[in-house]
Amino acid sequence: MRPRYVLLGLAVTLACAVAPWVVVSAAAQAASPGPGATPPGRKDLDRGRYLVIVGGCNDCHTDGYAPSEGKVPESAWLLGGGLGFRGPWGTTYAPNLRLTLSKMREAEWVTYAQTLKTRPPMPWFNLNAMTVSDLRAMYRFVKSLGPVGQPAPPYMPPGQEPNQPYLQWPAPPR
Ligand code: HEC
Repeated sequence: MRPRYVLLGLAVTLACAVAPWVVVSAAAQAASPGPGATPPGRKDLDRGRYLVIVGGCNDCHTDGYAPSEGKVPESAWLLGGGLGFRGPWGTTYAPNLRLTLSKMREAEWVTYAQTLKTRPPMPWFNLNAMTVSDLRAMYRFVKSLGPVGQPAPPYMPPGQEPNQPYLQWPAPPR
């Protein structure tokens, strides 16, 4: 046999050996929520919901949450805040976390949350301090709500006048 045919034979053999594995792993991926992730259990979802409530995430990331004394239905949680926070940093809006998390895998979220630093008034230092298991539970709960809604309005630099309502924050003390 000429070397070209030997190589061809080898390639065909390899393809036959690998193909069933590719098919099996593709099917497994389609059935699971993502590589490395397990489907969320009841305990994770309850813990995630609890952390979102006591972590105060809804206070800024859910429109109307504080004025309604927490009576916004879960289906409308974390869709982002339309109320701007204006201060020396410009004007920030609390993003739609359901969209943010839908673009990340669980492990990416954990790293992101533990290293996140944003403009005010997001308490990023509190999120940085959360344990991996709490961050995973939070991710599973938020993911279970589904990627719904629109992105929050974009950040505006200082000096630009927002055309929607905002809260004015004082300059930090010197
Ligand atoms: C006091 C208001 C406030 C609270 C409370 C708050 N956030 Fe935020 N959050 C913001 C604002 C405003 C931004 C946008 C900051 C910027 O534009 O730099 C933000 C940004 C973020 C981001 C980055 C979003 C992205 O799309 O990249 C994450 C993640 C986040 N918040 C998660 C949380 C979680 C989880 C909680 C609860 C533990 C929480 N936040 C509580 C106001 C808040």
